[in-house]
Amino acid sequence: MAVRAILFVCLGNICRSPTAEAVMRARLAAAGRDIAVDSAGTGAWHVGKPPHPPMIAAAAEYDLVPLRARQVVPGDADRFDLILAADRSVLADLGTMLAAGRARVDVLAPYAGGAVQDIPDPYYTGDYAGALALIEAACDGLMARLD
Ligand code: 4NP
Repeated sequence: MAVRAILFVCLGNICRSPTAEAVMRARLAAAGRDIAVDSAGTGAWHVGKPPHPPMIAAAAEYDLVPLRARQVVPGDADRFDLILAADRSVLADLGTMLAAGRARVDVLAPYAGGAVQDIPDPYYTGDYAGALALIEAACDGLMARLD
């Protein structure tokens, strides 16, 4: 996959997608790859806020602290080559929120290589470590798929 810019999307942009952004940024930096990453939420509740403190704590080895939530905008479809949703519900919402554009829109979890389609939302499950582990596995799988 030839991609220059990747957007991760979840519901609130304070748990799953900022974690994916920070993990992928770390993986890309370690590999010396010049690919832009960003994250956004389908919802607007937390716009301007940092990631949720328990998510920051669980992912303390990654740089989540400077991130701020934003909402998806229609034009994201043209600013990114690949847009990856945290679950199938987010993927469905993206179908109505994004303009027609060049981005390929997909779910993130299957990049981990298993049967899992959705990253369970730790905001509701409380399993921040489990979400991080799945996000790390998916980012590793995504790295292996990049040209
Ligand atoms: P996220 O988790 O989508 O992984 O950022 C959520 C955080 C907040 C809310 C929903 C999901 N909320 O409804 O406030």
